[in-house]
Amino acid sequence: QTGYITVDPGFGNTAACNSAITFIDGEEGILRYRGYPIEELAEKSSFVEVAMLLIFGQLPAKADVERFRGMLTDEQLLHEGMRYHFEGFPSHGHPMAMLSAMINACGCYHPELLSSEMDDERLLRATATLMSKVCTIAAFSYKMTKGQRMEYPDPSLSYCRNFLHMMFSMPHRRYEPPLQVVRALTKFLILHADHEQNCSTSTVRMVGSSGANVFASVSSGVCALWGPLHGGANMAVIEMLQQIHDGGDDPRSVVAKVKDRKFRLMGFGHRVYKNFDPRAKILEQTCSELFDTLGVSDPLLDIARELAAIALTDDYFLERRLYPNVDFYSGIILRALGIPLNMFTVMFSIGRVPGWIAHWYELYRDPDRRICRPRQIYTGSGKREYVPIASRG
Ligand code: SDX
Repeated sequence: QTGYITVDPGFGNTAACNSAITFIDGEEGILRYRGYPIEELAEKSSFVEVAMLLIFGQLPAKADVERFRGMLTDEQLLHEGMRYHFEGFPSHGHPMAMLSAMINACGCYHPELLSSEMDDERLLRATATLMSKVCTIAAFSYKMTKGQRMEYPDPSLSYCRNFLHMMFSMPHRRYEPPLQVVRALTKFLILHADHEQNCSTSTVRMVGSSGANVFASVSSGVCALWGPLHGGANMAVIEMLQQIHDGGDDPRSVVAKVKDRKFRLMGFGHRVYKNFDPRAKILEQTCSELFDTLGVSDPLLDIARELAAIALTDDYFLERRLYPNVDFYSGIILRALGIPLNMFTVMFSIGRVPGWIAHWYELYRDPDRRICRPRQIYTGSGKREYVPIASRG
């Protein structure tokens, strides 16, 4: 039964549901997608394979992966009519606003995927459509804001290479990313692919529980993820680190401000993880591998590591069980890949699309599915009589 039960309004979580997709043990820092440890998937799998695992529940056979890759390639292009949507956005429009709008616009060109009859085959097509098109939408939005020609997808490239091509190739120079850059992007997307009932995924389930189609549900997830306390934190971490760097602030003084409650350390803390976020550990290691391979460094990574080292030995943080979360290092990787700051949460969205689809489908297939309708604790006025306006003060 994937209906909702009220667990404890005071705890900050007002509802819980059953799901077989992702397992988290917040005390032990365990994260598994369909039973597979995130550490193994990040090291050995591909984002396409992880997407199929999350949605269909099993590691796919080679032939199935190849077939799905073909579907992703088929779906990379946007309907030419969508060009007018891009041209209608102001150049300063936020990429998250464009992404949520364009996902729903996409659905208009695929009425066959909006129907209420979704079998596995039609879901595979919808998944390929959404996963492919969010990359093309993101890259086209970026090119538009840069005033550059849009680079069309190249069917000969893998999912991650193709995204980097659409983002950074130019008419006079094709972008050929180093292998470590492709691996870093792959790990980033795998680590963001799902995270059980987080705010945006719960939103997708809430919207999907009304019978809304997968495009509308995923678009609502993008909107929920945008908030700085959720997916928007990866941008906020970099803005925080840049402010510390530009101001020449001593990380110790920053930690002191946090303890005086003048400042929230973005990228720290988590509602579920109370000892460490396994994704943060992998992403910090990925930063080292990426910078060593590229032969570059980033002063913001040095500041991040100093902040973490101080905070992780400070009682204020230990008492509140605050540790680096997935957003603390992820932005530093995106910077190294050349992704602009205002697209960081779009990157989180691209990673989370398979998880959102998996949860939407799990709910859709539940024969006992009921519309999600949480109750409340009423704290307003008691019964009152209407007062005509002439008699009001
Ligand atoms: C994501 O749910 C998910 O799974 C989300 C996510 C996913 O994959 O979908 O993991 C992705 O959203 C990660 C979180 C990204 N957000 C941030 O990094 C923003 C900064 N972190 C916080 O705002 C906060 O830690 C939350 C939102 C992540 C969790 O908030 P909670 O569980 O509601 O904790 P709280 O706000 O009740 O804080 C408890 C205490 C408070 O102190 P007291 O008032 O009890 O003295 O901890 C303090 C807070 O002031 N605190 C922090 C802090 N986070 C909590 N103090 C300083 N810096 C922080 N970051």
